[in-house]
Amino acid sequence: MTNFESIDQVQNALAQEGYVCGRALATVVFLSLRLGRPLFLEGEAGTGKTEIAKTIARSLNRPLIRLQCYEGLDASSAVYDWNFPAQMIAIRTAEASGAADRGALQQELFGPDFLIERPLLQAMRPHPQGAPVLLIDELDRTDEPFEAFLLEALSDFQISIPEMGTIKAPEPPIVIITSNRTREVHDALKRRCLYHWVDYPDAARELEILHSRVPEAAETLSKEVIAFVQSLRTEDVFKKPGVAETIDWAKCLLALDVISLTPDVIADTIGALLKYQDDIQRIAGSEATRLLDQARASLTEDA
Ligand SMILES: Nc1ncnc2c1ncn2[C@@H]1O[C@H](COP(=O)(O)OP(=O)(O)O)[C@@H](O)[C@H]1O
Ligand SMILES: [Mg+2]
Repeated sequence: MTNFESIDQVQNALAQEGYVCGRALATVVFLSLRLGRPLFLEGEAGTGKTEIAKTIARSLNRPLIRLQCYEGLDASSAVYDWNFPAQMIAIRTAEASGAADRGALQQELFGPDFLIERPLLQAMRPHPQGAPVLLIDELDRTDEPFEAFLLEALSDFQISIPEMGTIKAPEPPIVIITSNRTREVHDALKRRCLYHWVDYPDAARELEILHSRVPEAAETLSKEVIAFVQSLRTEDVFKKPGVAETIDWAKCLLALDVISLTPDVIADTIGALLKYQDDIQRIAGSEATRLLDQARASLTEDA
């Protein structure tokens, strides 16, 4: 498949790769591809933002180019850099051999042989399978100057290298930007994109995700896991468990041959769900028992 023809097709194609995609998310994915607009996905950690970019690339058989953001990320790590050690060696070699043509040497030193292409530049290059998926992951970790720079790169999909000239993408890449919202990303950048808030899934959808990712888990255990995690998310904890944590927890329970949840089992494995000691202390013990009762009650209601 080279492109999605409809919203249904987005949902089906992603489902085939194990990704459970709600209608709203599928719609914004479809529109962003159709209109050629970057897609901005914001939401809590572990809700499937990074995964959907990887899955889209797989479904459409496009290369995935990932720019992982971090504090202090700059153009030489995001766009291109010169291979300084190799340049030095080339200079030394030229000196030793007595080569006299300085102009030619300089041109060679700042040419393709010594250029290190970073993700943004790689994404502007032609690819035999079609335009790549460019995943700009966790943009909230960078700073505002980098955002401004990105805004410019995304507005014309071209990059200019003073020594070499301008490189323009033959076809704009499929851009997916994610943010865990540890800070607000600037309006100007968001306005360039189609925006979607990726929320925690409801119980039915999370069960579907668990079926897809941990199919070996028995139905009763899966339902208990989901009901417990869903109740846990209503609690006042510092870091709520994401879908990734639900999946991890189910795998832990399977590895321990657990058939049904008990307060002891929960206490022993809570580290798969909660990653802060304060949260663990708050939830362990009687609170876990109460949440388990609440989860069981919600299951009998549904049945
Ligand atoms: N809708 C979904 N369908 C299938 N798996 C999902 C879904 N959402 C999350 N996951 C699982 O959770 C894991 C974490 O998701 P990830 O994309 O890394 O979260 P985020 O980038 O939002 O922090 C993924 O590896 C995937 O296995
Ligand atoms: Mg992520």
